[in-house]
Amino acid sequence: MRRKRVREGVEGLIPYPPGKPIEELEREMGIRGSIKLASNENPLGTSPLAVQAIKDHLVRLNRYPDGSGYYLKSKLSEKYHLPLDRIILGNGSNELIELTVRTFLSEGEHAIQGFPTFLVYEKMVTAAGGRMTSVPLSDSRMDLKGILNAIRPETRVIFINNPNNPTGSAIGREEMLQFLKEVSEDIVVALDEAYIEFVTEEGVADGVELLDAHPSLFVLRTFSKLYGLAGLRIGYGFGQAWMIDYMNRVRQPFNANSLAQAAATAALDDDRFVSETLETVRDGLAYLYRGLEEIGLEYLPTQTNFFLIKVPAGGKKLYESMLRQGVIIRAMDSYGLPEYIRVCVGLPEENRRFIETLKRVL
Ligand SMILES: Cc1ncc(COP(=O)(O)O)c(C=O)c1O
Repeated sequence: MRRKRVREGVEGLIPYPPGKPIEELEREMGIRGSIKLASNENPLGTSPLAVQAIKDHLVRLNRYPDGSGYYLKSKLSEKYHLPLDRIILGNGSNELIELTVRTFLSEGEHAIQGFPTFLVYEKMVTAAGGRMTSVPLSDSRMDLKGILNAIRPETRVIFINNPNNPTGSAIGREEMLQFLKEVSEDIVVALDEAYIEFVTEEGVADGVELLDAHPSLFVLRTFSKLYGLAGLRIGYGFGQAWMIDYMNRVRQPFNANSLAQAAATAALDDDRFVSETLETVRDGLAYLYRGLEEIGLEYLPTQTNFFLIKVPAGGKKLYESMLRQGVIIRAMDSYGLPEYIRVCVGLPEENRRFIETLKRVL
C-alpha cells in the first residue's frame, strides 16, 4: 500500500479525547436523564447577560465579525488595565495555545511542560513538528526546578498550567516570580490560566500581575469556564505588544466569531452570574469532599472546579460502570493516571447523584 504522506509528527498523534457528550451516551445506551461531570464546564449554564447579547446579535450574522475584537478587547483592557495592543482573542484559549506554537516554535525546536497537564500543549507542539519534554509533577505539583533543568539551546516555549489540569494544584506568586527570572528572555512562557478565577488559596500567582516579570510571558484565559461559554469558543491572552503583534500576523482574520465577542463582552459585566458560579463550585467541592471522605476514597484538594479521585481498582473500570448509570466522568488513562478519575463540580443534585451512584457502583 502506498505510504500516506502527512507532516512529520502527525502520524503519532491521537485525537484529543473529549468528555463524552450526554446526547451520545443516551443514544448509545438508550437511557435518559444522564449527567455530565467530565469537562470542567459551568453547571449553572451560561451568563444570562451573555444569552441576551447573543439574541440581540442573531440578526446581524450576515456581517463578518470585527476582526480586531475592539469592544471585547476594550472591556478586557478596562478590567485588567492593559492597553489594547497587549490583548489578543482566540477561538477558545485552545486556539491561543495553537497560535503560540505556530508563532514562536519552528519545526525541530523544543518545548517543555510539566506532566500530567492539559493534553493540547503536546498535541500542538508535535503537530507543528516540534519536540515536547514532559517533566513529571512532583507530589502532584509543577516541578519548576525540573522544568528549568530541562531547558536546552533549542527550547522556544514552556507551557505552565496554573492551576493545573488535572491535578488542580496551583503555584505561588514568589515561586513563579523566581522561575520567570531564571528563564531566558527569548523563551516564551505560556501561562495557561483557564481556571484562575476559581482559586481560593492566598498567594497564588496571577499572570496579569507578573506580565512585566518576563519579557516573553504570554497569559491565556478563557470564557469557557467561569462565564459558561464553552460552546461558543472564546478565549483571550495578554502579552507584550511585540508578541501580540506577531500572533496577530499568524491568526485567521476572523478567529473570534461575532456571537462569541458579543456574549463575552456582556458576560464580563455579569457579576451576579460570576458570584453564583463561584459559590456553586465552593459549596459543591465541600459536599463532594465530605462524601468521598465518608466512602473512604482519597482525593486531591483543588484550586479549580474539578479534582482527581484515587480509585485503586482502576479509573477506567469505574468510569464505565458510572457511564452505565448515566453519570459521565473522566477516566485519566490518557493523562498517565490509570488509578484516578476526574470529576468536576455540578449542581447540588448532580453532586448528590454522583456520590450516590459512586457508593452503589463501588
Ligand atoms: C488547562 C486548560 N486550558 C485551556 C482549555 C481550553 O479552553 P477553551 O475552551 O478556552 O479552549 C482547557 C479546557 O478544558 C483547559 O483545561
